[in-house]
Amino acid sequence: MEKLIVLLLVFASLYSCSQETEKSVFIEKESFGTTTDKKKVDRYTLSNKSGMRVEIITYGGIITNLYVPNAAGSLTDVVLGYDNLSDYEKGSPYFGALIGRYGNRIADGKFRLDGVEYNLVQNNGKNHLHGGTKGFDKVVWAASSSVENEKAVLNLSYLSKNLEEGYPGNLNVEVIYTLTKDNILEVKYKATTDKKTVLNLTQHSYFNLSGEKDILNHELMLNAPSYLPVDETLIPTGEIASVVGTPFDFTTFKAIGRDILKEDIQLERGLGYDHCWVLDNPNKGLRSAAILKNESSGIQMEVFTDQPAIQFYSGNFLDGSNPVKNSESYYNYRSGLCLETQHFPNSPNESSFPSTELIAGEVYNTKTQFKFTLFSDF
Ligand code: GLA
Repeated sequence: MEKLIVLLLVFASLYSCSQETEKSVFIEKESFGTTTDKKKVDRYTLSNKSGMRVEIITYGGIITNLYVPNAAGSLTDVVLGYDNLSDYEKGSPYFGALIGRYGNRIADGKFRLDGVEYNLVQNNGKNHLHGGTKGFDKVVWAASSSVENEKAVLNLSYLSKNLEEGYPGNLNVEVIYTLTKDNILEVKYKATTDKKTVLNLTQHSYFNLSGEKDILNHELMLNAPSYLPVDETLIPTGEIASVVGTPFDFTTFKAIGRDILKEDIQLERGLGYDHCWVLDNPNKGLRSAAILKNESSGIQMEVFTDQPAIQFYSGNFLDGSNPVKNSESYYNYRSGLCLETQHFPNSPNESSFPSTELIAGEVYNTKTQFKFTLFSDF
């Protein structure tokens, strides 16, 4: 009998040990300060056993830091951002932020729905950009976190009231960030409205996989056979153009710097790449959209999405005025690039583009994943 008890105790302790060692993801929460209008902001850190770690603040749902394992065996912080709240509040080129209600541009800041014209703020020349003057990147989100099935989950929610920034409908938005033990960061978007509206949510992280001064040596592949040429104000002309034979062809890996200085009216208008690529297999659900890799760190990031398009922006407006986190220096021209999964810009005014309308009772439900690995072909 005694022997049996001892045996049971040994088994029990072995079991609890294996439970301990099986802990593969972790979550921490700390204060990140208070906004100028006295709202408390928290920072959540989601990490996993391999060392990958993402830091997200409840202001704007901003990813401030994203550490991923590199080929040298240490970690590289692969996103641009600030180290304090006041820099974000003072002005940020949407570093790491959630974007809504409409990622990208709406021409002349207006659109019609069921015969009613809605007027939005014109915060980008005559156009509306990234949800207006106080878009989802500048509000404080409610947050809760949990560990579920070896995944660290951060749930953010926000109620955007009827006519906020000019958009119709009370909109309940939820964004769920998940870090897996296999170095996948997932962003899931859910929303419902009580009145027909338009919606195009995205994530605006600026990536730099190398820590080098610009991203021109990064290699990019986009699973996109066509892109949307733009007018002088970066509104798509309505044409869906083939990338073949143009600097916009990233159907096989190409260094971002290779064609960026070529003489091309579209590159001239975007001041580089600032265009929406139309992804292959539009009806396939979650599929690979882009792969970005960098030789010096050995880091590769693959983007999966169920969205029809991706905006590739090569950081052309970064002008040396944004302070680098934990440093005395400033981010340079093109020191980061964005891969914003989304619907086409200006869809509310372009009936030939896939619809961005959301009706009452319907659930907006989309997802994007960023998967980090090391590549060994160098
Ligand atoms: C997006 C736009 C760019 C620019 C950046 C933010 O990617 O397409 O033109 O506005 O956001 O600076």
